[in-house]
Amino acid sequence: MRLQGKVAIVTGGGGGIGRATSSLFASEGAKVVVSDINEESASATVRLIKEAGGEALCVPANMVIPEEVEQLINKTVDAYGGIDILFNNAGVGNEEVRLADISVEEWDRVVDINLKGVFLGMKYALKKMEERGGGAIINTSSVLGHKGKKYVGPYNASKGGVVLLTQNAALEYGGKNIRVNAVAPGVIDTDIIQGWKDDERKWPIISRANALRRIGQPEEVAKVVLFLASDDASFVTGSTIFADGGGMIF
Ligand SMILES: NC(=O)c1ccc[n+]([C@@H]2O[C@H](COP(=O)([O-])OP(=O)(O)OC[C@H]3O[C@@H](n4cnc5c(N)ncnc54)[C@H](O)[C@@H]3O)[C@@H](O)[C@H]2O)c1
Repeated sequence: MRLQGKVAIVTGGGGGIGRATSSLFASEGAKVVVSDINEESASATVRLIKEAGGEALCVPANMVIPEEVEQLINKTVDAYGGIDILFNNAGVGNEEVRLADISVEEWDRVVDINLKGVFLGMKYALKKMEERGGGAIINTSSVLGHKGKKYVGPYNASKGGVVLLTQNAALEYGGKNIRVNAVAPGVIDTDIIQGWKDDERKWPIISRANALRRIGQPEEVAKVVLFLASDDASFVTGSTIFADGGGMIF
């Protein structure tokens, strides 16, 4: 078991990648705090983990609200005594229109969840990890944090920001034995891509736009996150690992 006795928080833990990763963490021996703005879906993840014999707790939080994020961290420490792993994964796509047609509200919504949410998760977890003597943080970026795509301006900007914020935190906290990395998924079969799937004209192209010529499964991202969370990645920090079927090189 690669995470025996570790305490892990997964944000967006009711969604596709968050659920797969929560389940994998638990099967590797971690106590998992499953968090999501959607309490119902986070509770369903906890149920699945418990049915499989794992340990998990549901703590709903909106990652955009500082008080809720602080409470998530404090409740984790109260329940399990500390935090070893934070998977900062909650995220949303944007309404796909050209930049000048994106409302300011839509810009704020997407950048707040995808980037400020990652900042807030780290802001409150880092101090607890420092007190514990170390930890591992994995932030979710995207291929679209590295490569521009039409009609996804706020998403592009927020996911690119996650990469540099990850490097910043890795530099500032490496001396405290805290590793900070990012995972950059390509097109993965979860609810967030439903709009693309529904587009009969574009989907045949989007779904094969990588070297492996298929979309990925959430479990294929979860395995990369597990690597980054575990001691197998003991000398890996400030990195972004792509789980994209070669989407970046396509
Ligand atoms: N699926 C893909 O193709 C893909 C590709 C690259 C990156 N990603 C990223 O992976 C992460 C997980 O997405 P997914 O694919 O599992 O999609 P998903 O929609 O299944 O999961 C996202 C989860 O985040 C939660 N969430 C949204 N806003 C929140 C908030 N304010 N506070 C807390 N939780 C919130 C949602 O309720 C949902 O459960 C996201 O950051 C996404 O941008 C996904």
